Amino acid sequence: LQAGLVGTAALLGACGKKEEAAAPAAAPAASEAAAPAAAPAKVYVVGTDAAYAPFESQNEKGEIVGFDIDVVSAIASKAGVQVKFVNTPWEGIFNAVAQGDRDLLVSAITITDERKQTMDFTAPYFDAVQLIAVKKDSKVAKFSDLKPLKVGVQTGTTGDEVVTKLLGKNSAAIKRFESTPLALKELESGGVDAVVADNGVVIHYVANNAGVGFKTVSDPSFQSEQYGIAVRKGNTAVLDMLNQGLAGIRADGTYDRIYAKYFGSAPGGAAAAA
Ligand code: ARG
Repeated sequence: LQAGLVGTAALLGACGKKEEAAAPAAAPAASEAAAPAAAPAKVYVVGTDAAYAPFESQNEKGEIVGFDIDVVSAIASKAGVQVKFVNTPWEGIFNAVAQGDRDLLVSAITITDERKQTMDFTAPYFDAVQLIAVKKDSKVAKFSDLKPLKVGVQTGTTGDEVVTKLLGKNSAAIKRFESTPLALKELESGGVDAVVADNGVVIHYVANNAGVGFKTVSDPSFQSEQYGIAVRKGNTAVLDMLNQGLAGIRADGTYDRIYAKYFGSAPGGAAAAA
């Protein structure tokens, strides 16, 4: 008898789930009566290089999580659309959106004039600045102190750009890595003397890897950066949806709640730059 009851409960549970899943697809079918079956609702594919905590990373279960993920998920629910996050290597991430393999990118991407030539960006959703990570006993006190040193960066990031400007394009002293955590590992093992990357990521890494003995060095010469969500150039439909959703989650307090969850204080506060 007990097994029977459990069985019924499981069945009911399954039915409830099925109905829920079918609901979004059923709505548009009403206006397309000729369609043989309800077309599945479009799922927007979001590219992200998920090795950039706290903005995007993979948890123990392999799920992609982080500030960017929460922001885009909240925008999507405002807009009433579904999104799916796909881990996408930084190298090639811009190509993936240009070719239509990804509908949008959220990856702590700094809006730059150069990138604006090939992609469209939403309004900025986060402020950032470069930050130097060095070992605790390092004598580095400012950016120009890196001149005679070996510096690790993630290939093609704004960190790469500033270090390239300082040391020269073909400098053998620049070690380029496919991810920022790899560059930081190299700092730990002594293969490089410093890493330059976005402040939020460096601060997060140093705080969560206290045992490795890093410290951070800021420099006033680093220009302020702003992150945007990227779409293929001319994709105004998706861009408008994202901008409206972003304005919506800023207006209703959702953005502030997400910000506080990751950075512990209101946006614009000192926490992100501290
Ligand atoms: N903000 C920097 C840039 O746009 C670094 C972004 C790297 N993002 C990532 N998910 N790896 O160049």
